[in-house]
Amino acid sequence: MGTAIIVLAAGKGTRMHSDRPKVLHKLAGAPLLYHAMRAGEMIAAERTVVVVGHGGADVQSAALAFHGEAICVDQPEQKGTAHAVLQAAPALEDFEGNVIVLYGDTPFIAPATLEEMLALRAQGNDIVVLGFEAADPGRYGRLITRDGQLEAIVEAKDASEEELRITLCNSGVVCADARVLLDLAGAVGRENASGEYYLTDIVAIARARGLTAAAYTCEEEETLGVNSRNDLAEAEAVFQATARTDAMAAGVTLVQPETVYFAFDTVIARDVVIGPNVVFGPEVTIETGAEIGAFCHLEGCHIARDARVGPFARLRPGADLDEGARIGNFVEVKAATIGRGAKVNHLSYVGDASVGAGTNIGAGVITCNYDGVFKHRTEIGENAFIGSNTALVAPVSVGATALIGSGAVITRDVPAGDLALARARQVNREGLGQRLMARLRALKAKGGRA
Ligand code: UD1
Ligand code: CA
Repeated sequence: MGTAIIVLAAGKGTRMHSDRPKVLHKLAGAPLLYHAMRAGEMIAAERTVVVVGHGGADVQSAALAFHGEAICVDQPEQKGTAHAVLQAAPALEDFEGNVIVLYGDTPFIAPATLEEMLALRAQGNDIVVLGFEAADPGRYGRLITRDGQLEAIVEAKDASEEELRITLCNSGVVCADARVLLDLAGAVGRENASGEYYLTDIVAIARARGLTAAAYTCEEEETLGVNSRNDLAEAEAVFQATARTDAMAAGVTLVQPETVYFAFDTVIARDVVIGPNVVFGPEVTIETGAEIGAFCHLEGCHIARDARVGPFARLRPGADLDEGARIGNFVEVKAATIGRGAKVNHLSYVGDASVGAGTNIGAGVITCNYDGVFKHRTEIGENAFIGSNTALVAPVSVGATALIGSGAVITRDVPAGDLALARARQVNREGLGQRLMARLRALKAKGGRA
């Protein structure tokens, strides 16, 4: 039997003080929304429904960018979490199986936790709610349990003093059979302190109907929700701390872990060494044995085994380094393949290009890929040598084993094996340097100017 997720993401996020919908604020380089959707992806959810409201069009396009088959349903007016879940009914009409409700602003629910909840469902519990022991229960809903059964959830606003003393709180994550969930959500009323349709009411309704309910307890950290910029910064810190620990546990050396920033999807193999102050944007994969020096910024790139990058290098989307390639200091690479063992060691820009295996790119080489309107490609063959301070005006190609003298402006293709010289011929005038300097010094001594 399959599983579907409903991600509630209609809220405004007033306390963010932002024109941007809350769930589109970024955590580890990705909208908050992605983190919840990713949990669904990790448990191989067959259907993803996102309930959108504030900033609906933007949230919808973000949801679709993450998962092309996500179904977005609109909740123009936020009347409560049960009402939000009901908006998903049409999208689940033909769905048979379990549904898990997640919040778009709660990024850390672990896939393993969802699996545990599904296991409790499989053991015959009609509703499974994710709870946690709250250090400060405050405004959270309280889980009322008796003899290991979940009896009800009481919102803090509606709770008695005795109920408020309960520390087992509601995370908001719920799992139930699709038909059961929608049926129960439809039975919820709004006679409470907030006048909202509370999803939490489904537990008491279910129990009254003779259904069973259970709570699964996770660590409080997993349930951390983002309501303010401060929460967002806290969530980022939590994410990074976990990502660093996980990377090291998987065999990655972090020379100064607290200065390395990972993205939500960074993939690094064992025996990679990462120096201090390295920042990862989305979509980076690094294979074993590679070394990333200090102060690099990497995004959308692939680094094959034993390659070396940095210090002070920038790899932008589409940079693809083959085995043992070297990218040195103050080098930027974008949408370019760097062949096996090729070297771009100093002060260069390589964009929209391919560099063959074993080729050496000298200091200060620039691929001039942009004519102000169009982008053009530069193709460089294997074992070529591009002299320092060469401008390669694309579209242009340099054949294998070709040699370009330094200071060239290359506007025509260089055939394989050729030597290209494209600079003014040097002229030396005997003794003229010395005579010129003497004349200038004499002028200065008389108080004049050149
Ligand atoms: C909810 C739970 C509470 C739990 C807490 C955990 C209910 C009634 N209460 O309270 O027991 O302890 O979460 O954080 O469910 N949303 C919509 N549409 C709506 C209402 C909400 O999409 O009409 C979304 C919000 O954007 C948010 C999430 O659902 O992401 C939770 O809603 P919120 O109003 O913040 O619920 P809480 O009062 O925090
Ligand atoms: Ca909330």
